Amino acid sequence: MKLTSPFLIANWKMYYSYDQAREWFQTYQQELAELAQKTSLIFCPSYEILPLALDFFAQTTIKFGAQNCSEYSSGAYTGQIMAQSLKELHVAYCLIGHSEVRTALHENNEQLLRKMEQLIINNIIPIFCLGESKTDYEQKKTKEIIEHQLQPLIQLLKNNSQNSLTCLVAYEPVWAIGTGIVAHNNHIIEAATLIKQQLQPYATMHTLPIVYGGTVTSDTIIELKKIELLEGFLIGKATTHFQELKKIISLL
Ligand code: PGA
Repeated sequence: MKLTSPFLIANWKMYYSYDQAREWFQTYQQELAELAQKTSLIFCPSYEILPLALDFFAQTTIKFGAQNCSEYSSGAYTGQIMAQSLKELHVAYCLIGHSEVRTALHENNEQLLRKMEQLIINNIIPIFCLGESKTDYEQKKTKEIIEHQLQPLIQLLKNNSQNSLTCLVAYEPVWAIGTGIVAHNNHIIEAATLIKQQLQPYATMHTLPIVYGGTVTSDTIIELKKIELLEGFLIGKATTHFQELKKIISLL
């Protein structure tokens, strides 16, 4: 799959129900399909909405992503989502390690690695999320946290030294997610530079674009898009309003 930046990853979290999503898709189907030609649009609705979304946009360039997957291939794991099913549904991407999932499921680095391995086996591109909490940020521990959180990704790349992988890396400071507080460009540049340095040894073999997430809107993107290291954005709330999404795409 040829990847072209800028990426716009729309993380719909649990904002819409099935019926609400259907209505949204019906209303904006045509316009969204046209907008998607201007960017690499990856839509990540909740699981139950994925088949509906895939059906609505089957003839378009829009790609779809899940918001998480199981670390296991199959078995007695009530409530979990099998990566193989995602592949069978033609889901091309999957968020891994989103801070809301990290917190809710107490995920550790070993589990995150196993989840990404499940995705790779099924030819799904991981969107690996990482970022420091407010406390870590205030205690100036961003560097340490990023280095620690990158470990599963580095392990995955090491384990696949013979196959060329693609993995998007989403830097999302937790204190900027859904808070209305956007990180300062200098802070993002520092974090993205560190991520790039850490991944440098694997960058010739693998494709590892870095994106930013956390309170990206049509207002905040104007400043954020000046950051050359970034190849796109992971956006939550703002992508659930069509006019706002349209404006964001026009500014990318
Ligand atoms: P937000 O969410 O754009 O609503 O801050 C971003 C995310 O959680 O990925």
